[in-house]
Amino acid sequence: MSTPEVMWPKKTREYQSHHFDSTIWNDFNFRDDDIVISTYAKSGTTWMQQIVSQILFDGQEGLPTADMSPWLDMRVPPKEMKLQDVEKQTHRRFFKTHLPVDAIVFSPKAKYLYIGRDGRDVAWSFYNHHTNASELYYQAVNDTPGRVGPPFERPKGDVVEYFRTWLEKNGHPYWPFWENVKTWWEIRTLPNVLFVHYTNLKNDMPGEMRKIAAFLDVPINEDKWPAIVEHCTFDYMKKNATATVPLNGALWVGGAETFIHKGTNGRWTNMLSEEDCRRYEQRAVEELGEDCARWLATGQYEAS
Ligand code: A3P
Repeated sequence: MSTPEVMWPKKTREYQSHHFDSTIWNDFNFRDDDIVISTYAKSGTTWMQQIVSQILFDGQEGLPTADMSPWLDMRVPPKEMKLQDVEKQTHRRFFKTHLPVDAIVFSPKAKYLYIGRDGRDVAWSFYNHHTNASELYYQAVNDTPGRVGPPFERPKGDVVEYFRTWLEKNGHPYWPFWENVKTWWEIRTLPNVLFVHYTNLKNDMPGEMRKIAAFLDVPINEDKWPAIVEHCTFDYMKKNATATVPLNGALWVGGAETFIHKGTNGRWTNMLSEEDCRRYEQRAVEELGEDCARWLATGQYEAS
């Protein structure tokens, strides 16, 4: 019997906005050992970049991880600059993307790490990210030539109001939430895709990190393992935030430490009403189906 052919995802559209320029993927030269870290956003992207850098570089301190691991589809700086920079990299490359699968070019050889987090935690994290965005942030996304569509708006209201708008308007004013989770979920069983959940990383970071290293085919240097793990903890990352946060934190009031904010889930628990939660959970099942909605909320594949 012949092995069934793998159906590799195909790019079917461009996504361009105040933040995105998906066309970079059309001109990007993959290397076979590239690593792509993907999340909707505020789901542990920076954490995963730190984990990957620590695994690849044996726990080395002071690495400029944010510079080494650019957000490829962010439209600032322009793609010509970014493409030149990544072409020059000689280490194993690891990038981040916040696009849905159908807006990227997918390589059958690269490795993809997708990280999920409950949408309520994402919105809580976004509220901090957005309310502390500096003037420079708005200038970068709104005034850099090439913006497609309306400007990026400032946040309105308190965190609960913010969450309600984000849910009602599906990720507004950033980008749609559900299609990101859904399109990645649909390819979760491909041999070069690994799904990781923020909650599982919180509950057993060393265990999840070993799975990630095995997936990336990187043998663990056991002598360095305690340091590798230590450098991925919240406390270490908060203390050493500058190197890991985009542009060293220059885009946020309070700098990089504002970005590595609380590192906890469920801050919404006593703030959202039962009706808010019911509405969110119902929408999650409608958009994602039961299995994916359960995974997104808990990190578990099977009902317990
Ligand atoms: P909070 O805002 O809830 O604290 P992203 O990198 O995708 O933008 O995600 C940012 C979120 O990941 C922030 O969440 C940040 O605090 C959290 N984070 C970063 N490093 C972490 C770590 N080592 N442990 C736990 N959470 C971490």
